[in-house]
Amino acid sequence: MSCTIIVGGFFGDEGKGKIVAHIAMKDRPVIISRGGVGPNAGHTVTVDAHAYGVRMVPSGFVYPDARLMIGSGVLLDPRVFLREVEALKVKDRIFVDKRCGVIEAHHIERDRGSDHLSKKIGTTGTGCGPANADRVLRVAKQAKDLPELAGYLADVPLEINHALDAGDRVILEGSQGFGISLYFGTYPFVTSKDTSASQVAADNGVGPTRVDEVIVVFKAYPTRVGEGPFSTEMAPDMSKTLGIEEFGTVTHRPRRIGTWDGEMARYAAMINGCTQAAITGIDRVDTACLGKTKYSELTEKAKRFIDAAEKDIGAPVTLISTGPDIDHIIDLRSEI
Ligand code: IMP
Ligand code: MG
Repeated sequence: MSCTIIVGGFFGDEGKGKIVAHIAMKDRPVIISRGGVGPNAGHTVTVDAHAYGVRMVPSGFVYPDARLMIGSGVLLDPRVFLREVEALKVKDRIFVDKRCGVIEAHHIERDRGSDHLSKKIGTTGTGCGPANADRVLRVAKQAKDLPELAGYLADVPLEINHALDAGDRVILEGSQGFGISLYFGTYPFVTSKDTSASQVAADNGVGPTRVDEVIVVFKAYPTRVGEGPFSTEMAPDMSKTLGIEEFGTVTHRPRRIGTWDGEMARYAAMINGCTQAAITGIDRVDTACLGKTKYSELTEKAKRFIDAAEKDIGAPVTLISTGPDIDHIIDLRSEI
Protein backbone atom coordinates (compact mmCIF):
# COMPACT_ATOMS: atom_id res chain seq x y z
CA MET A 1 0.00 0.00 0.00
CA SER A 2 1.92 3.07 -1.18
CA CYS A 3 -0.59 5.75 -2.18
CA THR A 4 -3.65 6.11 0.03
CA ILE A 5 -6.37 8.73 -0.39
CA ILE A 6 -8.61 9.60 2.55
CA VAL A 7 -11.89 11.45 1.90
CA GLY A 8 -15.21 12.16 3.63
CA GLY A 9 -18.34 10.29 2.55
CA PHE A 10 -21.13 12.48 3.95
CA PHE A 11 -21.35 16.28 4.33
CA GLY A 12 -17.95 16.88 5.93
CA ASP A 13 -16.65 16.71 9.49
CA GLU A 14 -16.71 12.93 9.40
CA GLY A 15 -13.52 12.78 11.43
CA LYS A 16 -11.08 12.57 8.51
CA GLY A 17 -8.48 14.52 10.49
CA LYS A 18 -8.36 11.93 13.22
CA ILE A 19 -8.30 9.00 10.76
CA VAL A 20 -5.46 10.62 8.79
CA ALA A 21 -3.52 11.26 12.01
CA HIS A 22 -3.93 7.66 13.15
CA ILE A 23 -2.89 6.19 9.80
CA ALA A 24 0.08 8.54 9.62
CA MET A 25 1.33 7.51 13.06
CA LYS A 26 0.88 3.84 12.25
CA ASP A 27 2.00 3.63 8.59
CA ARG A 28 4.81 6.18 8.76
CA PRO A 29 4.38 7.80 5.30
CA VAL A 30 7.17 9.97 3.90
CA ILE A 31 4.72 12.56 2.54
CA ILE A 32 1.26 13.65 3.68
CA SER A 33 -0.31 16.06 1.21
CA ARG A 34 -3.56 18.00 1.25
CA GLY A 35 -6.09 18.03 -1.56
CA GLY A 36 -9.50 19.65 -1.37
CA VAL A 37 -10.79 23.19 -1.54
CA GLY A 38 -8.78 25.30 0.94
CA PRO A 39 -9.08 26.92 4.38
CA ASN A 40 -12.86 26.38 4.49
CA ALA A 41 -11.88 23.00 5.94
CA GLY A 42 -11.61 22.52 9.65
CA HIS A 43 -9.99 19.32 10.81
CA THR A 44 -9.82 18.49 14.47
CA VAL A 45 -7.06 16.28 15.74
CA THR A 46 -6.97 15.46 19.46
CA VAL A 47 -3.69 14.31 20.95
CA ASP A 48 -3.33 13.78 24.71
CA ALA A 49 -6.63 15.60 25.29
CA HIS A 50 -5.41 18.69 23.40
CA ALA A 51 -7.61 19.47 20.37
CA TYR A 52 -5.84 21.06 17.38
CA GLY A 53 -8.02 22.64 14.70
CA VAL A 54 -6.20 22.81 11.37
CA ARG A 55 -7.42 24.47 8.19
CA MET A 56 -4.38 24.50 5.88
CA VAL A 57 -1.73 22.24 7.40
CA PRO A 58 -2.39 18.52 6.70
CA SER A 59 -3.98 16.68 9.65
CA GLY A 60 -1.12 14.21 9.51
CA PHE A 61 1.20 16.83 11.06
CA VAL A 62 1.08 14.87 14.34
CA TYR A 63 3.42 12.33 12.76
CA PRO A 64 6.72 14.23 12.99
CA ASP A 65 8.75 12.38 10.35
CA ALA A 66 6.58 13.10 7.31
CA ARG A 67 7.05 15.96 4.92
CA LEU A 68 3.80 17.92 4.74
CA MET A 69 2.53 19.34 1.46
CA ILE A 70 -0.31 21.33 -0.03
CA GLY A 71 -1.26 20.23 -3.55
CA SER A 72 -1.50 22.49 -6.60
CA GLY A 73 -5.29 22.33 -6.73
CA VAL A 74 -5.77 23.70 -3.20
CA LEU A 75 -6.44 27.35 -2.39
CA LEU A 76 -3.99 28.88 0.04
CA ASP A 77 -4.79 31.68 2.46
CA PRO A 78 -1.29 32.91 3.41
CA ARG A 79 -2.48 34.40 6.72
CA VAL A 80 -4.08 31.17 7.89
CA PHE A 81 -1.17 29.10 6.57
CA LEU A 82 1.60 31.12 8.24
CA ARG A 83 -0.29 31.26 11.53
CA GLU A 84 -0.71 27.47 11.61
CA VAL A 85 2.88 26.81 10.55
CA GLU A 86 4.02 28.95 13.49
CA ALA A 87 1.60 27.43 16.01
CA LEU A 88 2.37 23.83 15.03
CA LYS A 89 6.11 24.39 14.51
CA VAL A 90 6.21 22.64 11.13
CA LYS A 91 8.19 25.33 9.27
CA ASP A 92 11.06 23.02 8.31
CA ARG A 93 8.96 20.26 6.78
CA ILE A 94 6.01 21.91 5.06
CA PHE A 95 5.83 22.72 1.35
CA VAL A 96 3.31 24.55 -0.80
CA ASP A 97 2.93 23.89 -4.51
CA LYS A 98 4.03 26.97 -6.40
CA ARG A 99 0.77 26.94 -8.39
CA CYS A 100 -1.70 26.95 -5.48
CA GLY A 101 -4.36 29.63 -5.95
CA VAL A 102 -4.18 32.41 -3.38
CA ILE A 103 -7.06 33.78 -1.30
CA GLU A 104 -6.87 37.54 -0.83
CA ALA A 105 -8.82 39.83 1.50
CA HIS A 106 -11.20 40.84 -1.27
CA HIS A 107 -12.21 37.20 -1.80
CA ILE A 108 -13.21 36.96 1.84
CA GLU A 109 -15.16 40.21 1.59
CA ARG A 110 -16.98 38.96 -1.49
CA ASP A 111 -17.79 35.65 0.23
CA ARG A 112 -19.16 37.44 3.32
CA GLY A 113 -20.92 40.38 1.67
CA SER A 114 -24.60 40.75 2.52
CA ASP A 115 -26.02 39.71 -0.85
CA HIS A 116 -23.39 37.06 -1.36
CA LEU A 117 -22.69 33.43 -0.83
CA SER A 118 -22.50 33.31 2.95
CA LYS A 119 -26.13 34.44 3.19
CA LYS A 120 -27.43 32.54 0.19
CA ILE A 121 -25.94 29.11 0.75
CA GLY A 122 -24.30 29.45 4.14
CA THR A 123 -20.69 29.29 3.00
CA THR A 124 -17.88 29.34 5.54
CA GLY A 125 -17.04 32.93 4.51
CA THR A 126 -13.38 32.01 4.03
CA GLY A 127 -13.16 33.34 0.47
CA CYS A 128 -12.89 29.97 -1.27
CA GLY A 129 -15.76 30.34 -3.74
CA PRO A 130 -14.72 33.79 -5.04
CA ALA A 131 -11.03 32.71 -5.16
CA ASN A 132 -11.86 29.61 -7.20
CA ALA A 133 -14.02 31.77 -9.47
CA ASP A 134 -11.06 34.13 -10.02
CA ARG A 135 -8.82 31.14 -10.64
CA VAL A 136 -11.13 29.94 -13.39
CA LEU A 137 -11.25 33.48 -14.81
CA ARG A 138 -7.43 33.40 -14.70
CA VAL A 139 -7.06 36.53 -12.64
CA ALA A 140 -6.05 34.88 -9.34
CA LYS A 141 -2.57 35.07 -7.84
CA GLN A 142 -0.52 31.93 -7.39
CA ALA A 143 1.60 30.98 -4.38
CA LYS A 144 4.79 31.78 -6.32
CA ASP A 145 3.66 35.43 -6.63
CA LEU A 146 3.80 35.97 -2.83
CA PRO A 147 7.21 36.85 -1.33
CA GLU A 148 6.17 35.61 2.14
CA LEU A 149 5.71 32.09 0.71
CA ALA A 150 9.08 31.95 -1.06
CA GLY A 151 10.65 29.66 1.55
CA TYR A 152 7.89 27.07 1.23
CA LEU A 153 7.50 26.59 -2.52
CA ALA A 154 7.84 23.19 -4.19
CA ASP A 155 6.67 21.18 -7.17
CA VAL A 156 4.39 18.97 -5.09
CA PRO A 157 3.38 16.52 -7.86
CA LEU A 158 7.07 15.94 -8.63
CA GLU A 159 7.89 15.26 -4.97
CA ILE A 160 4.97 12.86 -4.58
CA ASN A 161 5.55 10.96 -7.81
CA HIS A 162 9.25 10.57 -7.01
CA ALA A 163 8.36 9.19 -3.59
CA LEU A 164 5.95 6.71 -5.21
CA ASP A 165 8.63 5.72 -7.73
CA ALA A 166 10.91 4.91 -4.80
CA GLY A 167 8.21 2.69 -3.26
CA ASP A 168 7.60 5.08 -0.38
CA ARG A 169 4.27 5.62 1.35
CA VAL A 170 2.22 8.71 0.63
CA ILE A 171 -1.09 9.82 2.11
CA LEU A 172 -3.32 12.25 0.24
CA GLU A 173 -5.95 13.81 2.47
CA GLY A 174 -9.13 15.38 1.18
CA SER A 175 -11.25 18.03 2.78
CA GLN A 176 -15.00 18.64 2.68
CA GLY A 177 -17.48 15.80 2.39
CA PHE A 178 -18.87 14.04 -0.66
CA GLY A 179 -22.33 15.64 -0.25
CA ILE A 180 -20.97 19.14 -0.86
CA SER A 181 -19.10 18.23 -4.05
CA LEU A 182 -19.67 20.81 -6.78
CA TYR A 183 -20.25 17.93 -9.23
CA PHE A 184 -22.07 15.27 -7.21
CA GLY A 185 -23.50 17.07 -4.19
CA THR A 186 -26.68 19.00 -3.43
CA TYR A 187 -26.08 21.86 -5.90
CA PRO A 188 -26.26 24.84 -5.43
CA PHE A 189 -25.69 24.13 -1.70
CA VAL A 190 -22.19 22.85 -2.31
CA THR A 191 -18.59 23.99 -2.10
CA SER A 192 -16.68 25.44 -5.06
CA LYS A 193 -15.06 22.21 -6.26
CA ASP A 194 -15.45 18.45 -6.49
CA THR A 195 -14.56 16.70 -3.24
CA SER A 196 -14.20 13.10 -4.40
CA ALA A 197 -11.04 10.96 -4.38
CA SER A 198 -10.39 11.60 -8.08
CA GLN A 199 -10.24 15.32 -7.35
CA VAL A 200 -7.87 14.81 -4.43
CA ALA A 201 -5.55 12.83 -6.72
CA ALA A 202 -5.78 15.55 -9.38
CA ASP A 203 -5.12 18.27 -6.77
CA ASN A 204 -1.81 16.60 -6.07
CA GLY A 205 -0.86 15.72 -9.64
CA VAL A 206 -1.22 12.00 -8.99
CA GLY A 207 -2.60 9.99 -11.91
CA PRO A 208 -5.49 7.57 -11.26
CA THR A 209 -3.36 4.50 -11.97
CA ARG A 210 -1.01 5.36 -9.10
CA VAL A 211 -3.62 5.23 -6.34
CA ASP A 212 -3.65 2.03 -4.27
CA GLU A 213 -6.29 2.59 -1.60
CA VAL A 214 -9.23 4.96 -1.16
CA ILE A 215 -10.49 5.14 2.40
CA VAL A 216 -13.87 6.85 2.70
CA VAL A 217 -14.75 8.14 6.17
CA PHE A 218 -18.38 8.00 7.28
CA LYS A 219 -19.75 9.13 10.61
CA ALA A 220 -22.39 7.07 12.37
CA TYR A 221 -24.53 10.19 12.80
CA PRO A 222 -23.80 12.41 9.79
CA THR A 223 -23.80 16.20 10.18
CA ARG A 224 -24.18 19.16 7.88
CA VAL A 225 -23.29 22.84 8.44
CA GLY A 226 -24.83 25.55 6.32
CA GLU A 227 -27.88 25.38 4.12
CA GLY A 228 -29.10 22.61 1.84
CA PRO A 229 -31.03 19.34 1.78
CA PHE A 230 -30.26 16.70 4.38
CA SER A 231 -32.64 13.78 4.00
CA THR A 232 -31.95 12.01 7.30
CA GLU A 233 -31.79 15.18 9.45
CA MET A 234 -33.29 14.83 12.92
CA ALA A 235 -35.12 17.47 14.96
CA PRO A 236 -32.73 19.49 17.16
CA ASP A 237 -34.36 18.28 20.41
CA MET A 238 -33.75 14.69 19.28
CA SER A 239 -30.01 15.24 18.90
CA LYS A 240 -30.01 17.02 22.26
CA THR A 241 -31.71 14.00 23.85
CA LEU A 242 -29.06 11.77 22.27
CA GLY A 243 -26.38 14.09 23.67
CA ILE A 244 -24.73 14.67 20.30
CA GLU A 245 -24.64 18.40 19.67
CA GLU A 246 -21.74 19.62 17.51
CA PHE A 247 -20.32 22.98 16.42
CA GLY A 248 -18.24 23.82 13.33
CA THR A 249 -14.45 24.05 13.66
CA VAL A 250 -14.21 27.05 11.31
CA THR A 251 -17.52 28.87 11.72
CA HIS A 252 -18.63 27.66 15.20
CA ARG A 253 -22.14 27.29 13.79
CA PRO A 254 -24.22 24.45 15.27
CA ARG A 255 -24.09 21.41 13.00
CA ARG A 256 -27.32 19.83 11.82
CA ILE A 257 -27.36 16.17 12.81
CA GLY A 258 -28.93 13.20 11.06
CA THR A 259 -29.14 9.45 11.16
CA TRP A 260 -27.14 7.00 8.99
CA ASP A 261 -27.95 7.37 5.28
CA GLY A 262 -27.30 4.03 3.60
CA GLU A 263 -28.24 5.22 0.15
CA MET A 264 -25.86 8.15 0.30
CA ALA A 265 -23.11 5.93 1.72
CA ARG A 266 -23.48 3.54 -1.23
CA TYR A 267 -23.40 6.34 -3.79
CA ALA A 268 -20.40 8.03 -2.14
CA ALA A 269 -18.52 4.72 -2.01
CA MET A 270 -19.21 4.16 -5.71
CA ILE A 271 -18.01 7.55 -6.95
CA ASN A 272 -14.98 7.59 -4.66
CA GLY A 273 -13.95 4.09 -5.71
CA CYS A 274 -13.89 3.16 -2.03
CA THR A 275 -11.61 0.22 -1.22
CA GLN A 276 -11.99 0.48 2.59
CA ALA A 277 -14.23 2.48 4.88
CA ALA A 278 -13.79 4.12 8.26
CA ILE A 279 -16.72 4.68 10.61
CA THR A 280 -16.41 7.37 13.24
CA GLY A 281 -18.55 8.11 16.29
CA ILE A 282 -19.45 4.50 17.11
CA ASP A 283 -19.46 5.63 20.77
CA ARG A 284 -22.62 7.53 19.86
CA VAL A 285 -24.34 4.39 18.65
CA ASP A 286 -23.55 2.86 22.03
CA THR A 287 -21.73 4.85 24.71
CA ALA A 288 -20.31 1.58 26.10
CA CYS A 289 -17.95 1.59 23.11
CA LEU A 290 -16.12 4.78 24.15
CA GLY A 291 -12.35 4.43 23.90
CA LYS A 292 -12.35 0.74 22.91
CA THR A 293 -9.41 -0.44 20.82
CA LYS A 294 -10.46 -4.01 19.93
CA TYR A 295 -13.37 -5.16 17.79
CA SER A 296 -14.20 -7.89 20.33
CA GLU A 297 -14.80 -5.19 22.97
CA LEU A 298 -17.62 -3.58 20.97
CA THR A 299 -21.23 -4.20 21.99
CA GLU A 300 -23.59 -6.32 19.87
CA LYS A 301 -25.53 -3.16 19.02
CA ALA A 302 -22.41 -1.49 17.63
CA LYS A 303 -21.38 -4.61 15.71
CA ARG A 304 -24.83 -4.81 14.11
CA PHE A 305 -24.53 -1.15 13.10
CA ILE A 306 -21.14 -1.77 11.47
CA ASP A 307 -22.38 -4.90 9.65
CA ALA A 308 -25.31 -2.98 8.19
CA ALA A 309 -23.10 -0.03 7.22
CA GLU A 310 -20.65 -2.38 5.52
CA LYS A 311 -23.48 -3.78 3.38
CA ASP A 312 -24.50 -0.25 2.38
CA ILE A 313 -20.95 0.80 1.54
CA GLY A 314 -20.01 -2.41 -0.27
CA ALA A 315 -16.44 -2.35 1.04
CA PRO A 316 -14.90 -3.56 4.30
CA VAL A 317 -15.02 -1.28 7.33
CA THR A 318 -11.42 -1.45 8.48
CA LEU A 319 -11.22 1.52 10.85
CA ILE A 320 -13.67 2.23 13.67
CA SER A 321 -13.32 5.38 15.71
CA THR A 322 -14.55 5.00 19.30
CA GLY A 323 -13.93 8.50 20.68
CA PRO A 324 -12.22 11.83 20.03
CA ASP A 325 -8.63 10.95 20.94
CA ILE A 326 -6.19 9.66 18.35
CA ASP A 327 -5.86 6.43 20.36
CA HIS A 328 -9.60 5.80 20.45
CA ILE A 329 -9.59 3.59 17.39
CA ILE A 330 -9.94 0.00 16.21
CA ASP A 331 -7.71 -0.73 13.23
CA LEU A 332 -8.61 -3.92 11.37
CA ARG A 333 -6.54 -3.20 8.25
CA SER A 334 -4.05 -6.00 8.84
CA GLU A 335 -6.94 -8.49 9.13
CA ILE A 336 -8.36 -8.10 5.62
P1 IMP B 1 -17.75 27.18 1.09
O1 IMP B 1 -16.97 25.93 0.87
O2 IMP B 1 -17.18 28.05 2.18
O3 IMP B 1 -18.00 27.90 -0.19
O4 IMP B 1 -19.20 26.75 1.63
C1 IMP B 1 -20.12 26.01 0.84
C2 IMP B 1 -20.85 24.98 1.70
O5 IMP B 1 -19.94 23.96 2.09
C3 IMP B 1 -21.45 25.53 3.01
O6 IMP B 1 -22.65 24.84 3.29
C4 IMP B 1 -20.38 25.18 4.05
O7 IMP B 1 -20.93 25.08 5.34
C5 IMP B 1 -19.91 23.83 3.52
N1 IMP B 1 -18.51 23.51 3.91
C6 IMP B 1 -17.37 23.96 3.34
N2 IMP B 1 -16.30 23.43 3.93
C7 IMP B 1 -16.75 22.62 4.89
C8 IMP B 1 -16.10 21.75 5.83
O8 IMP B 1 -14.88 21.62 5.91
N3 IMP B 1 -16.93 21.05 6.67
C9 IMP B 1 -18.28 21.15 6.59
N4 IMP B 1 -18.92 21.93 5.72
C10 IMP B 1 -18.16 22.65 4.87
MG1 MG C 1 -14.47 20.01 9.64
